[in-house]
Amino acid sequence: MTMKTVVDFKNMKESSEKITMITAYDYPSAKLVEAAGTDIILVGDSLGMVVLGYDSTIPVTMADMIHHTKATRRGAKDTFIIVDMPFASYHISNSEVIKNAASLLQDASANAVKLEGAVFEQISLLTKVGIPVVAHLGLTPQAIGIDGTYKVKGKTEEEAQALIEDAKKAEAAGAFMLVLECVPDVLAQAITKVLKIPVIGIGASKNTDGQVLVFHDIVSYGIDRKSKFVKIYADMNKMVYGALTSFNEEVKGNLFPFPENTFQANYEEITFLYGGTNEDR
Ligand code: KIV
Repeated sequence: MTMKTVVDFKNMKESSEKITMITAYDYPSAKLVEAAGTDIILVGDSLGMVVLGYDSTIPVTMADMIHHTKATRRGAKDTFIIVDMPFASYHISNSEVIKNAASLLQDASANAVKLEGAVFEQISLLTKVGIPVVAHLGLTPQAIGIDGTYKVKGKTEEEAQALIEDAKKAEAAGAFMLVLECVPDVLAQAITKVLKIPVIGIGASKNTDGQVLVFHDIVSYGIDRKSKFVKIYADMNKMVYGALTSFNEEVKGNLFPFPENTFQANYEEITFLYGGTNEDR
């Protein structure tokens, strides 16, 4: 498989070929996502919630993103990787924004970065440096402190208009893709139609140019609450729990390891272990 480029994604939109994006955060998940033929891997800062156990994405740091992107790249050498710039890593100063984004490409081998919200100056700045940028609008989880809750965006005329304007500004600033999270179908359709860049939806209906979901949601791994926009394709919680409890039961019952899991040696080589004397050695 050859790695897709930003040009391929643009062509896919033009030819109405849907784009698939799945998150991954480490070597095994990246290997599986790549083997499944996924177009794009997103090392999302959802990492904070589904892997690191935080209750929001706010605590996630640049160091976390670099560490996990490196592992993801080791598992998916041929897949285009987008990485979330974590909370407040693209707001302090121009030099800080460039330094952080460049480090995700240079140190962690990402192909592009994703920025949440109406940060058009930063999108433009990074694009001028040569860093491909994905914009993220609609529900933006890093704004949880301001919003107070994770809810569908763009349900009022005012909010919908503002989102359409923001999407156009993100494209004009140089974003090559837009992730649109939790907006009504009709608004997702309008934004997808008005933009030339691909729009990837999550909770934004099927009427976008592609879909993204979180790995742990798709396979129900460590997740105890399903969002409306998620479809669970496999139940890893159940499978893994079953495997782990069986291991515990078999060890307690002195069943495991079985003969096929046990190493044996030649009687002649180590007779003393079988009751022989030291002279026998
Ligand atoms: O962090 C993430 O996984 C994301 C997706 C929900 C789009 O930004």
